[in-house]
Amino acid sequence: MCYFQTGFGYFPGQLHFMDQTTKKVAAAKAALQYVRRGTIIGVGTGSTVNCFIDALAADGGLIQVAVSSSEASTARLKNIGVTVADLNDIGSLDLYIDGADEANADLALIKGGGGALTREKIIAQAARTFVCMVDDSKMVQTLGAFPLPVEVIPMASRLVATAIAELGGDPKLRAGFVTDNGNHILDVHGLAIDAPVNLENELNQIPGIVTVGLFARRPADLLIVGRDTGVDTITR
Ligand code: A5P
Repeated sequence: MCYFQTGFGYFPGQLHFMDQTTKKVAAAKAALQYVRRGTIIGVGTGSTVNCFIDALAADGGLIQVAVSSSEASTARLKNIGVTVADLNDIGSLDLYIDGADEANADLALIKGGGGALTREKIIAQAARTFVCMVDDSKMVQTLGAFPLPVEVIPMASRLVATAIAELGGDPKLRAGFVTDNGNHILDVHGLAIDAPVNLENELNQIPGIVTVGLFARRPADLLIVGRDTGVDTITR
């Protein structure tokens, strides 16, 4: 039965409008079904991933070892008793679980709102299956309303910003932010990304760019979308 939320509680028989956090939690719980007990998985970064780590903790013992995409996720994983391994010691992974800032119908993504895009892209590349969890506010027809994060070597920030401006973007240095790798982030506004693979390839050629937060060459394989009506999954 569906419920309609009002200021006075829930009334049966109507649609239940869920807030963004509830949708993230629902998507994160649904992601658990793709985790095979005892396997080593890759774990991303962000508030949706935090919900996923909470779900792992509630399940108790589904996995013992993970590869982590950030210092923040590493701390959370260790806190629930999961050992964090070096990707070099593992090689490849069956599964990577992460969130995204935007997703399109081809499962191309913008990621890096939390600044962990470089390690996220490395782990996504190492994984046979990338399961991405979002709430429905992240689904877009054209990527780019969310400013595209680009990790840059600090000495190249200005050079890269100029090159991106020549491509039509409006890059802003993320003030006071240093990535886990000691680099800076440029958040690029004003892009309507009609050809995500082409733009990712083009930006990858600019010296000084470490990682572009466009995950189009290696998109998600499966997207779990939290909606008012529950979760649904989209595959490529
Ligand atoms: C971290 O750098 C990002 O790529 C996150 O995966 C992305 O920003 C999604 O974050 P939320 O789950 O907090 O929305």
